[in-house]
Amino acid sequence: SPAEKFFVGGNWKMNGDKKSLGELINTLNSAKISGDVEVVCGAPSIYLDFARSKLDAKIGVAAQNCYKVAKGAFTGEISPAMIKDCGVGWVILGHSERRHVFGESDELIGQKVAHALESGLGVIACIGEKLDEREAGITEKVVFEQTKVIADNVKDWSKVVLAYEPVWAIGTGKTASPQQAQEVHDKLRQWIKANVSEAVASSVRIIYGGSVTGATCKELASQKDVDGFLVGGASLKPEFVEIINAKA
Ligand code: G3P
Repeated sequence: SPAEKFFVGGNWKMNGDKKSLGELINTLNSAKISGDVEVVCGAPSIYLDFARSKLDAKIGVAAQNCYKVAKGAFTGEISPAMIKDCGVGWVILGHSERRHVFGESDELIGQKVAHALESGLGVIACIGEKLDEREAGITEKVVFEQTKVIADNVKDWSKVVLAYEPVWAIGTGKTASPQQAQEVHDKLRQWIKANVSEAVASSVRIIYGGSVTGATCKELASQKDVDGFLVGGASLKPEFVEIINAKA
């Protein structure tokens, strides 16, 4: 793929405690990680400071969500300004669990993307179809619509990583086949070429998420348009190091 550095994100979701995450962090800090890969760990908001202070500087940290404004009366929310104040450079937005468990709309996700980027965070923007949508043959329509809302809110694409996560593959053990992932990534790149620009299409990283494991990562990583991964369950295990080095 012609895109920038291979990107491997871990999404810890609502898992771990200081003890287990501290052990994981020690494993990551002492692992041999290729210089050709950018690694970012998505920590629960209450552990962002902890993760940033313990992880080596070469490993980035991401929040798993944030709100669309800098401060105010929004009980329970965190802002990009707060994330940055913890030394954290990234935020995951539009994850399927935010969309489907917490009912976040495309409109809200777009507003969050705009504000996070304006605040100087990098954004891992997630999209992906549900099983019934794939079965109905509308995968492309769904991911293009989601991507459009994101694209409408991006000025500087150098701070955006697009994560394709088919909902049916998340936490199910049913990894998309390398061909299924490649097909959608290719379509997404074509969409970006037609609707954003050729330069962005060739430089933006389109990463795959959904039951990525040490066993499935190498073949997925070899696909032309797979520029990295967003890893849930396996990012909490030493196996994450294998995935980080999938291309090495
Ligand atoms: O954001 C990553 C995620 O949704 C994939 O989770 O557990 O299927 O790797 P998992």
